[in-house]
Amino acid sequence: MTPRPFVTANFAITADGRISTRNHTPSDFSSAADKRRLLEIRAACDAVLVGARTLAADTMTLGLPAEDLRAARSDRGLPEMPLRVIATNTGRISAENRVFTSGLHPAVVFSTRRMSTRTCTSLAGVCDLFIHLADSVNLAAMLATLREEYRVKRLVCEGGGTLFKALLAADLVDELHLTLCPLVFGGAKAPTLSGVAGDWLPKSTCLRLAEMIPVGAECFTRWRVRRS
Ligand SMILES: NC(=O)c1ccc[n+]([C@@H]2O[C@H](COP(=O)([O-])OP(=O)(O)OC[C@H]3O[C@@H](n4cnc5c(N)ncnc54)[C@H](OP(=O)(O)O)[C@@H]3O)[C@@H](O)[C@H]2O)c1
Repeated sequence: MTPRPFVTANFAITADGRISTRNHTPSDFSSAADKRRLLEIRAACDAVLVGARTLAADTMTLGLPAEDLRAARSDRGLPEMPLRVIATNTGRISAENRVFTSGLHPAVVFSTRRMSTRTCTSLAGVCDLFIHLADSVNLAAMLATLREEYRVKRLVCEGGGTLFKALLAADLVDELHLTLCPLVFGGAKAPTLSGVAGDWLPKSTCLRLAEMIPVGAECFTRWRVRRS
C-alpha cells in the first residue's frame, strides 16, 4: 500500500450537529479557546487541508498567526507553518485568493481536468498545482503525493463537511477533533460533519473516544477511527 500521512480532522460543531448555518456562513461560533486549539492542532501537523468551499466561505490564509507556535516549530527544525493544501474538483479558484496573496509559504492545489486552462495558467505562478485526469480529486493519490513529494507525515483536514465525507468514504481518516459548542442552529440544509444531510456513506466509520476536556462552555473531544 502507498504510504500516506496520518490524517486527523478538526471541526467545531453545535449541539445539534451542525458545522455551519444554512447559508454556509463562516464557522465563527466557537470560543477564542477553540480557535487557539485549532491553531495548536494545525501547528502539530505538516500540512493543513481544506475544500474549496471552506476556503471561499472563511476567506482564510491557512497560516499560523501565533508567534509562539511558529517559534516552537522553528525550534523543532520545522518550517514556520504547515504546508497549505486546497482541494477543488471544478478548479474554480482564483489566483487572487488570500491564500495565495498573503505572502506566506507556497500553497499546493489539487484539482482535476475540469479546471480551465486559464485558471491553470494563473495558478501556476502562485502555487504548486497538481491536476488529476478525472472529474474528482483522487484523495488517496493526493495524500500519497503529499507524503512522497512534501514529506507530510501528519495532515489535518479543517473542513468542510463535503471534503471530510469524501475522505471518510475513502477510508482515509485516522482521527477526529470535535469541539462541542453550546448552540443549536437547526435547519435541514445546515451542513453537518459529513456535509448537507443526503447520501449515506458506503459504510459507517467507527470511532473510539480518546479525549474529552470541558473548557468553559465547550467540550474539546478527540476520537480515533477504529479499524477492524
Ligand atoms: N465548524 C467547522 O469547524 C467548520 C470547518 C470547516 C468548514 N466549515 C463550514 O463548512 C462550509 C463549507 O463546507 P462544504 O461542505 O460546503 O464544502 P467543503 O468541504 O469545504 O468543500 C467542498 C469542495 O471540496 C472540493 N473537493 C475536492 N476534492 C473533493 C473530493 N474528492 N470530494 C469532494 N469534494 C472535493 C470540491 O470543490 P469544488 O466545488 O471547487 O469542485 C467540493 O465542492 C462553510 O460554511 C464553512 O464555514 C465549518
